[in-house]
Amino acid sequence: MKIIIEKNYEDLSKQAAEIVKQAIQEKLNLVLGLATGSTPIGLYQKLIQMHKQNVLDFSKIITFNLDEYLGLPANHSQSYHYYMKENFFDNINIDSKNIHIPNGETKDVKVFCRDYEQDIQNVGGIDLQILGIGSDGHIGFNEPGTPFNSRTHLAKLAQSTIKDNSRFFEKEEDVPKFAITMGVQTIFEAKKILLLASGENKAISIAKALEGPITSQITASILQKHQDTIVILDEKAASKLKRKY
Ligand code: F6R
Repeated sequence: MKIIIEKNYEDLSKQAAEIVKQAIQEKLNLVLGLATGSTPIGLYQKLIQMHKQNVLDFSKIITFNLDEYLGLPANHSQSYHYYMKENFFDNINIDSKNIHIPNGETKDVKVFCRDYEQDIQNVGGIDLQILGIGSDGHIGFNEPGTPFNSRTHLAKLAQSTIKDNSRFFEKEEDVPKFAITMGVQTIFEAKKILLLASGENKAISIAKALEGPITSQITASILQKHQDTIVILDEKAASKLKRKY
């Protein structure tokens, strides 16, 4: 793992955008794995800026999102479909047929999950996967205890995740209890991974994920074994690391 510590969120986002830019410039039909949540917003803004300045062409990229809440229609303001449209896709020249996001309204979750894995395989696997991390160390919605060999599946959200994500909903009871998520193995098979974390509330999970034992209790800890993972932190998220990077 390569660990980069930036002063603040702005610099973290800039650095992350440079890495994504380079990957797209090297391979115009890059298969890009995407995350939602607060963390990648700055990265998406930088990429949109680059597009507007004619520096980046997204017309050939293929995207796969990590996850989607079960039961939320795509047009629900808290669905990840809606988030991606608002925060990224509507502002770049991506071809809509190249966008893949788990369908939270599928009638057959098992078949959907199997097909999602197949779709990833059909385009040769994910080249670059963007990740955030939960305060419980999750990646995607792979909560503590999710096996490392898991693939796209229906996940039950941990109580701490429901609480963390309630900031986006009117009340905690409104947060869906289940989500469809890529599995740990699905994520681990990405050729390159970019994990981003910002703020004090990520400091403990980052210390455990990067310096603690590799355990399915902190699913992000498997990234210690990944051959090409870059972690970009701001100083607050890095504040509980023991080693100096
Ligand atoms: C989002 C996802 C989650 C988030 C994580 C951090 O698609 O898969 O793992 O990356 O919960 O969320 P934020 O960035 O909101 O702190």
